[in-house]
Amino acid sequence: MKIFLDTAEVEEIRTAARWGVLDGVTTNPSLYAKVGGSYDAILQEICKITSGPVSAEVVSDDVEGMLTEGRHFAKIAPNIVVKVAMSENGLEAISRLADEGIKTNCTLIFSTNQGLLAAKAGASLVSPFVGRLDDINQDGMTVIRELAEIFSLYDIETEVLAASIRNPLHVTQAAMAGAHVVTLPFKILQQMVHHPLTDKGIEQFKKDWAATAKSAGPKGA
Ligand code: E4P
Repeated sequence: MKIFLDTAEVEEIRTAARWGVLDGVTTNPSLYAKVGGSYDAILQEICKITSGPVSAEVVSDDVEGMLTEGRHFAKIAPNIVVKVAMSENGLEAISRLADEGIKTNCTLIFSTNQGLLAAKAGASLVSPFVGRLDDINQDGMTVIRELAEIFSLYDIETEVLAASIRNPLHVTQAAMAGAHVVTLPFKILQQMVHHPLTDKGIEQFKKDWAATAKSAGPKGA
């Protein structure tokens, strides 16, 4: 399963890239609003850090507006993926962008049928929002599992991207459910690295090493 960072914070993306675990990035208007500045400039910077897919979201409601924004984003870098929200106009925009060879990520997916339609329209990625479904007492992971099964059953190339990830357990569950990609906030990536027993073990090894080195003398002989 690929791991994307769900952020517009360039330093977080640099860090994950240095760790060797970064396969791509997703952004959205809310994540961009947290950092501000020029969206284009941020996307350019992110695309210099990773050659993996970088999602840039359109905000127009009408098809022509979505196409204009999508074509603009696609010119920024070859790894840009245009993020389009699920809607009737969104499906048309996805279909037309696919005809132009522009990759899309259909976002705000909350049902298996929405994901199926987005794939049929030609989306490269579909993004079910696991956390937001869990928030309203529906099992978000069911949508991931069902879409992964359907895409495999019918040899559909579209990838299932588990989005709106709220905790490290969601990441494990998304992997078990067959998600092709998970996108997560940097904080959750950090939480995945750590375990109390790992941190405790490192401290103990350091203490034991220091005590032995001290009793063995200055040369450790
Ligand atoms: C990513 O593509 C989505 O926009 C993001 O995961 C949504 O997460 P949220 O529900 O925490 O806002």
